[in-house]
Amino acid sequence: MRTRIVGTGFVTGENRVTNHDLQRMLDTTDDWIRERTGVEQRYYAEQGTTTSDLGARAAEQALADAGVPKEAVDLVIFATMTPDFYFPGCGGLLQQKLGLRTIPAIDIRQQCTGFLFGLSVADAFLKAGQAKTVLLVGAEIHSGFMPWGQWDFLFGRSAQGPTADEKALYTQFRDRAVIFGDAGAAAVLRAEPGERGLLGFALHSDGANHEDLFVNTGGMAFRPYMSEAHLREHRQMPAMNGRSVYRMAIGLLPEVIREVCAAQNVKVEEIDCFIAHQANLRINEAMMRALKLPEERMFNNIQRYGNTTAASIPLAYHEARKQGRIKPGSLVCFAGLGSGFHWGAALMRE
Ligand code: UT7
Repeated sequence: MRTRIVGTGFVTGENRVTNHDLQRMLDTTDDWIRERTGVEQRYYAEQGTTTSDLGARAAEQALADAGVPKEAVDLVIFATMTPDFYFPGCGGLLQQKLGLRTIPAIDIRQQCTGFLFGLSVADAFLKAGQAKTVLLVGAEIHSGFMPWGQWDFLFGRSAQGPTADEKALYTQFRDRAVIFGDAGAAAVLRAEPGERGLLGFALHSDGANHEDLFVNTGGMAFRPYMSEAHLREHRQMPAMNGRSVYRMAIGLLPEVIREVCAAQNVKVEEIDCFIAHQANLRINEAMMRALKLPEERMFNNIQRYGNTTAASIPLAYHEARKQGRIKPGSLVCFAGLGSGFHWGAALMRE
């Protein structure tokens, strides 16, 4: 028996925002963003739309794609770093929104590798016979991190833009503000006989460098766990050492891909399609150079969605599948690195 992805779906936040739109909020340029990250546009959710809403919408599509009734789902795994509430997590909220039975709903927080780690949890449950149909969801609303308040102006509904001082403030966060987007993506997994499905994983975690990408507020490291002082310092915005994360990614990702290939006795050149986390197009290009493989082997869609953290891998997989880049029998490699830090790779025979 192997674990197979039998259906996928995705949704974005409701509002498309181009690099040109962002230029009206902070000091940046379309050229800089494209050149350094590959991003051309991203979607931000409407105020009031939550991460569990995006997850539930994507899940409905994935169930329809799989032709699986929601009554059949017997485990939910929800990966997000931007939950609706401090607690409870989004898994139970999704269960309620979809009207699922009172099946177990697990929340996991592996940031950009949430989907990858979620795949391994799903695989373990399915192989152990503890679940027959798993709904794995990755969804994020990054908008709440953003330091600005003029959403209607950004969405073209108001003429009231930021003042020069506000623009200068937002510019302090421009390295992070331009990369993220809001989306939800989901996959339905089942164990089926045969050779197709997940072949194996290589997963790693190391907390040593967590301060290179973390949110330095809103946790029990502080008493109280959130404060006006932290908000005044804009600590709700992730703190990131972009250069360090970039270096980590281009070093560790090719290594972990080689590791999973060696464990499965597969040559890296045999992989038909790489579905890597969409953090920065340049990271993914560097990864393919390190593996000495043509760029076309990797499917990228960061140009249209930005970095959607836990949604990025299933969103890329969904599009690659629908566009025929992944066909029955294709050897697929999932890979990603995210805050924590967590990184890993998985091989799957489509
Ligand atoms: O999934 C989450 C994991 N995160 C990542 O994988 C992030 C990995 N890192 C990156 O992708 C890149 O480090 C960034 C895209 C975030 C930043 O690119 P960078 O080339 O590392 O830029 P930098 O932060 O070192 O800044 C270089 C210059 C600075 O100007 P000066 O000091 O040289 O004059 C920045 O102020 O680029 C400037 N800059 C910008 N300019 C225009 C930074 N962000 C922007 C911007 N627009 N948005």
